[in-house]
Amino acid sequence: MKQALEKIRQAAVQELEAIQDLKLLDTVRVKYLGKKGELTAILKQMGSLTAEERPVIGALANEIRCDIEDKIARHTQELREQALQKKLLEEKLDVTMPGKQQPVGKKHPLTKVLEEIEEISLGMGFDIAEGPEVEYDYYNFEALNLPPDHPARDSQDTFYVTDTILLRSQTSPVQIRVMETQKPPIRIIAPGRVFRSDAADATHSPLFHQIEGLVVDKGITMANLKSTLETFIKKIYGDDSVVRFRPHHFPFTEPSAELDVMCFNCHGEGCRLCKGEGWIEILGCGMVHPKVLANCGIDPEVYSGFAFGIGLERIVMKRYGIDDIRLFFENDDKFLSQF
Ligand code: DAH
Repeated sequence: MKQALEKIRQAAVQELEAIQDLKLLDTVRVKYLGKKGELTAILKQMGSLTAEERPVIGALANEIRCDIEDKIARHTQELREQALQKKLLEEKLDVTMPGKQQPVGKKHPLTKVLEEIEEISLGMGFDIAEGPEVEYDYYNFEALNLPPDHPARDSQDTFYVTDTILLRSQTSPVQIRVMETQKPPIRIIAPGRVFRSDAADATHSPLFHQIEGLVVDKGITMANLKSTLETFIKKIYGDDSVVRFRPHHFPFTEPSAELDVMCFNCHGEGCRLCKGEGWIEILGCGMVHPKVLANCGIDPEVYSGFAFGIGLERIVMKRYGIDDIRLFFENDDKFLSQF
C-alpha cells in the first residue's frame, strides 16, 4: 500500500508539472484528492490493514495529500505569475512614440464670411430669416411683381420642378414670406442657397448663395437705405472703403440701384481685378415696390421699406483673391484648408 501511495504522489506531481493552463489544475485535484479520487480509493481499503500498519499508512496518506495540495497551490501561483507577466508585457506602452495625427476639419470660406455678415447684421438690429429652397413660382416671381410673361424672368434661368414649383432663383421670395407673416417694423436678413440653370464656369455656378435684406416701417426712405448699406459695407470691407450707388432696375423695387465699392486693388484707377472699371458691383437694392407691399397685405400708403440682395460668393472671392467660383463646390481639401 505504501508503494501504491508513493506512485500516486509521483503520478500527481508529473501530471501537475506538465500543466500550463490554470483552468486544468483543478482536474488534478479532483483526479487524485477528490471524493472519487485515487488517494481516497486507497484510503477506503485501510480496513484491511493491521492495527500497527494503519497509523503508519494513515500518516503517509496525509503527508501525500498535503504534499499534492501544496504543489497544486504553488503551481497555481506560478501560472498566475506567468500570466500576469505576459499580460504586462503585451500591454506595455511606449510613451515616447509620436501620437497619431487626427485631421481636424475647418469652416468653409463661404460659411466663415456668412457668419461674419450675420454677426454684423445682428449687431445692426437685423433678425435672421429663412425660406424654402424649393419654392412656389408665386413667391419667387409673381408676388415680387414679375407676372408670368415678364421679360426679367428670362434673366434668371430657373429650374422648374412643376409648372408652379421651382428651385428658388433668388432669396427675394423670403421677403414675401416674412411680410406675409410679420407686421412692420421688419428688419431681417435672409441668407441661403439659390439655383439657376447656368453652365458652370469661373464666374457661374448653378448653385450659389445670396443674402437678402429687408427693412419695412413707417417713414423709411432712400436715405435709410443708403446709410444702412454704407455702414454695412464698411463693416464688411473696412472703414476706408468707398461706395457709390448707381441707378438700376429691378421689378420688385422702385427706385432701384446697384451698389459699387471702389476697387481695393487700384483705388478707382482701373485694373484687371475690376476689369478696368475702378469699381466693383456688390449688391442690388431699392425701395420696396408698393405693389409688393400690397401683395403681402401691407398698406403702401402707411409703410415703406427698402431691400437688398448680395451675392455671397463674389464677396468671398474678392476677399481672398479666389478667381474661380467652382473651387467652392469641389471639396478639394488643399483649397479648403487654406482658410
Ligand atoms: N434678387 C436680385 C437678384 O437675384 C437681387 C436683388 C436686387 C435683391 C434688388 C433685392 C433688391 O432685394 O432690392 O438679382
